[in-house]
Amino acid sequence: MVRFNNVTKTFPNRKVALSSVDFTISDGEFVFLVGPSGAGKTTVLRLIFHELLPTSGSVFINDIEVNKLKDDQIPFLRRKIGYIFQDFKILHTRTAAENISVTLEILGQKKEVIDKKVKGILETVGLLDKANYFPSQLSLGELQRIAIGRAVIGNADIILADEPTGNLDPKTSWEILKLISNINKMGKTIIMASHNIDMVNSLKKRVIAIVDGKQVKSTKVYY
Ligand SMILES: Nc1ncnc2c1ncn2[C@@H]1O[C@H](COP(=O)(O)OP(=O)(O)O)[C@@H](O)[C@H]1O
Ligand SMILES: [Mg+2]
Repeated sequence: MVRFNNVTKTFPNRKVALSSVDFTISDGEFVFLVGPSGAGKTTVLRLIFHELLPTSGSVFINDIEVNKLKDDQIPFLRRKIGYIFQDFKILHTRTAAENISVTLEILGQKKEVIDKKVKGILETVGLLDKANYFPSQLSLGELQRIAIGRAVIGNADIILADEPTGNLDPKTSWEILKLISNINKMGKTIIMASHNIDMVNSLKKRVIAIVDGKQVKSTKVYY
């Protein structure tokens, strides 16, 4: 469960990026965050990830009030969350498999365990035959598949996706959306910021719309 309780975020330059935002996202839900550029979508995701703190109000993940966590508890929170970015954030000197295994190496898991899990994830994201390719040998869609693999391999319950198809052509975008939808069907909560209204409409999932930092709509139907 992810819950925003009257969240306002004002940046030090006095820009009010979010104003009194309230919503609850249930476990296993797929929710789209829509709104024009600058609306506050990324700010919502960064608040969930504890990359930003609210100026007022509270952000909850399950029963934990994220903004009250101590520094040494933040890594535990982040293990529950996978983050997918528009620009992939791939390590260019590592292969597809190595980019995905990074998450588990940080957790200090054994090599045999890591290798087995990475193989499973490469299969999920459709890259088993390209495990040893370097990013320069892969398409943009394949790079995003790696990033999705990296976000899900740690067994995070919540996947944040910030305009994950923003740099992709239409056909590849639909393939990536399908992959993210499949990950939701495996039981993960998905919170996806998107500009692409055709995509948002296609899945008929709940939409939270933000305009100029204000939540204008949160409905159980498509946009
Ligand atoms: N660190 C920051 N300092 C000041 N203003 C910021 C900062 N980050 C974002 N903003 C502003 O907050 C607003 C919302 O930004 P953002 O959440 O990135 O919007 P979106 O992702 O919907 O395009 C924008 O006006 C943006 O310029
Ligand atoms: Mg953004």
